[in-house]
Amino acid sequence: MFSVHDCQLVDLPIVHDKAGNITVLENNNNIPFNIKRVYYLFDVPMGSERGGHAHYELQQYVVAASGSFTFILDDGKEKKEVFLNHPNKALHIKPGIWREMKDFSSGSVCLVLASMLYTEDDYIRDYQNFIKYRNYEIQ
Ligand code: TYD
Repeated sequence: MFSVHDCQLVDLPIVHDKAGNITVLENNNNIPFNIKRVYYLFDVPMGSERGGHAHYELQQYVVAASGSFTFILDDGKEKKEVFLNHPNKALHIKPGIWREMKDFSSGSVCLVLASMLYTEDDYIRDYQNFIKYRNYEIQ
């Protein structure tokens, strides 16, 4: 089982140019899992809170492709807030971590690279079930 400390911000490479920068993410090169799915959140209304779930197996790289937002990670024992505000940083979320998202700036885009195709079977959406899964006592 992973802890919130295993979920780190990773520096992504930048190809700098006066006319604009490029960041490239390549399977089996600078991503530590096979990318099976890419999705992005956009048009998130100010004040929205999202997430509120964990995954059994899924790993993700989360990038603030535009704007900023905050992820709150929770391993059942400890919580950690991670502010994402630059496209050259990815947050690596390991399996078994509860996450919530908040403070989306206007026009922000949350890009996610995921290690699995979408399946609802991989979600834990009930916090008490998550705590049981992590083998912790419900407080
Ligand atoms: P969810 O993962 O709960 O969103 P968030 O964590 O950003 O709050 O997904 C919200 C809805 O979108 C849910 O009904 C399932 C659907 N969805 C898909 O159909 N495919 C996907 O790849 C994702 C990420 C979500």
